[in-house]
Amino acid sequence: MHPIAFYQEAFIKHLEGKIVEKEPKNLYEPINYILGLGGKRLRPVLTLMSADFFGGGFKNALNAALAIEVFHNFSLVHDDIMDDAPIRRGQATVHEKWDINTGILSGDAMLINSYQLFESYKSGSFHQLVALFSKTAIEVCEGQQYDVDFETRDDVTLLEYLKMIEFKTAVLVACALKMGAIVSGASAENQNLIYEFGRNLGIAFQIQDDYLDAFGDPQTFGKQVGGDIIENKKTYLYLKALEKSSKEERKQLSDLFSIQPTDPSSKIEAVKEVFERTGAVEETANAIKAYTRKAFEALETIDLPKEQKDVFVKFGEDLMQRAV
Ligand code: IPE
Ligand code: IPE
Ligand code: MG
Ligand code: MG
Ligand code: MG
Repeated sequence: MHPIAFYQEAFIKHLEGKIVEKEPKNLYEPINYILGLGGKRLRPVLTLMSADFFGGGFKNALNAALAIEVFHNFSLVHDDIMDDAPIRRGQATVHEKWDINTGILSGDAMLINSYQLFESYKSGSFHQLVALFSKTAIEVCEGQQYDVDFETRDDVTLLEYLKMIEFKTAVLVACALKMGAIVSGASAENQNLIYEFGRNLGIAFQIQDDYLDAFGDPQTFGKQVGGDIIENKKTYLYLKALEKSSKEERKQLSDLFSIQPTDPSSKIEAVKEVFERTGAVEETANAIKAYTRKAFEALETIDLPKEQKDVFVKFGEDLMQRAV
């Protein structure tokens, strides 16, 4: 296997080769804009790594990798509308730069484009890829709906939250890895094990995303810090803070999560203070570690050389350290 940077470069080269400027401009410019803003390219890199890992080479997985990145970017364009988010990757979101209708339609076209990328696969793997992709995509929609539903509920449980993030985020990470395994003809057992690795890594990843949304550095995070607090998102931090707080603190927190002030800065500061005071921050860090460990345990059970698995371990460790 190659180092992680190798797969990133191979993916970006493939992506750049596929970008075309077409009419109507208001449909295609936002697509090229969001895809050109970068991002960590985690999911496509995982697809390429997984394909290499299971012996099929990464090249045959390039279109599947691009499909997942285009889908991911589609989901971000619509997510930013739903979350009323002004910035993404340090720049204006699509609906801010253009408008909401543009974001909706460009997002739709990206979703269709992502499916078109599977047309290059032969019938056997084509069917498996599309079936997995469709199952995953519908789960992402379900997760996104739960996320929105939870904004106005005050009785969300940790278990409900975990299901929600599994669907909105983790299954796509798991799908990225399993697609690499499918393209390389891995056994059904190994396909499932690499999916489990990705599912747990994806859960850790979303809990970390929740943490960064509140405590990330505004200079480097690339999104509006405090966005989840403004939107009353029921994050890991919030649910743990509720669980660990006294009766008075619990009332204070749920009161703060029932208001939508025009200047949200004092709400954000007050909520973060409760997150810190209740120990929710430590609990969140522990949960990130625990799910990353679970991911590594699934990886352990795959019968392949340790040197190969170590590249995935490195990937998971880097993810835990991220600031973006
Ligand atoms: C953002 O995903 C959406 C989540 C699931 C948290 P990423 O953090 O992978 O976004 P980019 O692609 O690197 O910008
Ligand atoms: C995003 O969750 C999940 C999807 C886009 C499907 P978030 O709403 O937490 O992602 P960010 O923080 O905006 O990137
Ligand atoms: Mg969002
Ligand atoms: Mg969201
Ligand atoms: Mg987030």
